[in-house]
Amino acid sequence: MKNLGILLSGRGSNFEVIARNVQAGRIPARIAIVIANREEAPGLARAREMGLKALCIPSRGKDRDAFDQELAGALRASEVDLVCLAGFMRVLGPTLIRDFPGRILNIHPALLPAFPGANAQKQALEYGVKFTGCTVHIVDEGVDTGPIVCQAVVPVLDEDAVETLSARILAEEHRIYTEAICLMLEDRIEIAGRRVRIRP
Ligand code: GRF
Repeated sequence: MKNLGILLSGRGSNFEVIARNVQAGRIPARIAIVIANREEAPGLARAREMGLKALCIPSRGKDRDAFDQELAGALRASEVDLVCLAGFMRVLGPTLIRDFPGRILNIHPALLPAFPGANAQKQALEYGVKFTGCTVHIVDEGVDTGPIVCQAVVPVLDEDAVETLSARILAEEHRIYTEAICLMLEDRIEIAGRRVRIRP
């Protein structure tokens, strides 16, 4: 059984769906550790309630390398095979990424490469696109730039505000993150340059 490590900074709804799907046997893995970089992250409290190993490694005031080394140490100690960023608001440095080559996933609330970075739903709304969505990608050393594993599209409606659009996107995030994790765990991902092919 492979070990998942979840990194989060906030609400943790993606984490919760992953945890429920693990419990239900829809994701063939166990959650070995949940790490938040903020003690106040609601997702951290939720992980503890669920009886998972969950800890806070504060990032505030630390330089990236020191923080990354702590993170990498905790992930290695829990023998993590696949790292899932689930609303994790810190950019990971090269040291950590090289420790888990091709084994870190992130979910982003836009159709990358459109609208990377923070407030992607607001960026999409203000730009005036008619469709947006979400992307699960492999983390590389850029911000939201790694090879794309899965995407889902949602329409932008005339009456949308950031909240309604975000909710429509979130429902798809919850669906495709599990899908991408399963593909990774089943070793069905083949990366050629930027392209990710899915083996049947
Ligand atoms: C999601 O919109 C995700 O795409 C982005 O951060 C948000 C996290 O939400 N990376 P949650 O904490 O999983 O509820």
